[in-house]
Amino acid sequence: MSGHEKVETNVGLLIVLTILVVSIGGLVEIVPLFFQKSMTEAVAGLKPYNALQLEGRDVYVREGCYVCHSQMIRPFRAETERYGHYSVAGEFVYDRPFQWGSKRTGPDLQRVGGRYSDDWHRVHLINPRDVVPESIMPGYPWFATNKLDGKLIQKKMQVLRTLGHPYTDEEIANAPKELEGKTEMDAMIAYLQSLGTAVKVRR
Ligand code: HEC
Repeated sequence: MSGHEKVETNVGLLIVLTILVVSIGGLVEIVPLFFQKSMTEAVAGLKPYNALQLEGRDVYVREGCYVCHSQMIRPFRAETERYGHYSVAGEFVYDRPFQWGSKRTGPDLQRVGGRYSDDWHRVHLINPRDVVPESIMPGYPWFATNKLDGKLIQKKMQVLRTLGHPYTDEEIANAPKELEGKTEMDAMIAYLQSLGTAVKVRR
C-alpha cells in the first residue's frame, strides 16, 4: 500500500493531516497581518466619530441600512471608477462593528461623504423617489421627527475610549450638549457625510 493510499483510506489520519495543512496555511497568511502597520493603524487624518456622527451610525445599524448597502470598495477598476479609492484596513479602526456588508441592493456607501448636499440627503431619506424616481429604497420619514435624547452618548464614548478611540474628557463632557435639539436626520446626515473622507477620493 502506498503512503498516499494509506492516508486516503484512513479517515482519521486524513482529517488530522488536513487540519495540519490548513492551519499552517492559515497561520502563514493571518499572523503577519497583526504586525503590518497598514493593517492595524488608522490612516492619516482619520478621526473617531463625533457625538452626532456616532448617533447617526447607531441609527444606521438599527434600521439595517447594511442589508442593502455595503461599505467596502474592492480594488477592481469597475469599483474604483464608480466609487473612488478602494477601501483600506486603516479606515475602519474606529468602526465597531464595521459595516462592510455583503449585499448591494443599493450602491456602496463607503465614499458617499461629500458626494451630495445635506439637503439632498434630507429629501432622499424622507422619500428617495423625490430625487431618484426609479429608486426602490424605502423612505425613513421618522428620522426628521425623532429627537435624539443623548442619554447614552457619554457611556458609549467612554466604552469606545477603553477600546482605543482617542476621545478627550472634554469631548465626552460636551457630547450631550452637541446632541441637544438634534434629530435622527441630523445625525444620519452627519454620519453619511463623514464616510470615506479620510482617504483622497478620485471621482
Ligand atoms: C431595500 C434596500 C435599501 C435599504 C434598506 C436602504 N437603501 Fe439606500 N439605496 C437603495 C437603492 C436601491 C439606492 C439607489 C437609488 C437611490 O439613490 O435611491 C440607494 C441609495 C442610497 C444612497 C445614495 C447613494 C449614492 O451613491 O447615490 C444613500 C446615501 C443611501 N441609499 C442611504 C441609505 C441609508 C442611510 C439607509 C438606512 C436608513 C438605506 N439607504 C437603506 C436601497 C436601500
